[in-house]
Amino acid sequence: MTGLYVHIPFCKRKCFYCDFISFNYDERKADDYIKALFKESRKYKKEKISTVYIGGGTPSMLSADQLQHLIDGIKKHFDITEIEEFTVELNPESASAEKLKILYNNKISRISFGLQSSNDEELKILGRLHTYNEFLNAYAAARNTGFDNISIDLMYGIETQSAESWQKTLDTVLKLNPDHISLYPLTIEKYTPFYNQNKKVDYDLQSIMYNAACEKLKDSVFTHYEISNWAKDGKFSKHNILYWKNKEYIGLGASASSYYKRQRYKNILNADIYIKNLQCGQSCVIESENIDDSLYKTETIMLGLRLSEGVDLSLFNHKQQTLYKYLKQDLLVIREGKVCLTEKGFWVSNSIISDFM
Ligand SMILES: C[S@@+](CC[C@H](N)C(=O)[O-])C[C@H]1O[C@@H](n2cnc3c(N)ncnc32)[C@H](O)[C@@H]1O
Ligand code: SF4
Repeated sequence: MTGLYVHIPFCKRKCFYCDFISFNYDERKADDYIKALFKESRKYKKEKISTVYIGGGTPSMLSADQLQHLIDGIKKHFDITEIEEFTVELNPESASAEKLKILYNNKISRISFGLQSSNDEELKILGRLHTYNEFLNAYAAARNTGFDNISIDLMYGIETQSAESWQKTLDTVLKLNPDHISLYPLTIEKYTPFYNQNKKVDYDLQSIMYNAACEKLKDSVFTHYEISNWAKDGKFSKHNILYWKNKEYIGLGASASSYYKRQRYKNILNADIYIKNLQCGQSCVIESENIDDSLYKTETIMLGLRLSEGVDLSLFNHKQQTLYKYLKQDLLVIREGKVCLTEKGFWVSNSIISDFM
């Protein structure tokens, strides 16, 4: 079985920090885009799917009818009879009660809200279109609809955000009793408004904020199962775990990546060209790479180290020197035959992981 990611490249407006591929929503273009997704789906010939993740962009920008049509198409083009998890990303300002009902009635099992902060000033700085109160209404509507697996994304290191205000966002959100939270350090991505304004992040403060979050969540109902992710028992993101365990997935849509039949490939970034290519029966893939055994091993280490459960020690045969360097520094540890990042190692994981390349 394989995972399925569907990219919806539409947003109402671009947030100032975001470099994910998305364009202004337009109803006709979104209709054409969904048709193109179905054309792309045909090449997978009813592949059996274990998890589906509809992300973006902003999937909740689609109209209620478009969401229904999209889900019908996924059911038609793939075999989801044994699906284990079906996630849809939602933005608070566009997650209406009608759309939530459609998702729930179609057995979407998990939703993920992008909140970022409970502080309206910080939301404004990020260029978000919702207030905390609007998020609260959407969250309550989702619970009232019946969703019992809700994740919330938060960001730390926002300009003007102090360690205290970060703690306040965490406390406020934890009181809502979400099932899963993702905590991301703000990064300044190329060609975003923040980048163009030459904004910088304070890494030391971000490190303090990350450690404070780890500390707060240590004795809670949440398990820190991945560098940036915490969840209640049974509520770990099955789809994302599939990425980190280096399992196969199909990515549909503009800019989507796939790892399928030992090949990694990436789709064209521009939604208009993606639609046009599929309308003309042309390929939408812009780059691809064969994954041989040696690359597979390296990738399995690099992805798997993100998970707190770690990676089989046997995969490190050719990386012994690097492994011992980090074991000595207490950044990696061996637990029950698996190599794992320590809490201290989580924060500097990027440099450790890239050292295994
Ligand atoms: C690709 S976004 C899509 C989700 C949804 N459209 C939203 O805005 O909430 C997924 C998450 O990535 C995180 N993210 C995006 N850009 C980021 C950046 N530059 N730095 C840190 N986190 C970022 C945000 O927390 C966001 O909720
Ligand atoms: S963070 Fe979400 S809403 Fe904002 S621009 Fe990126 S994808 Fe769109």
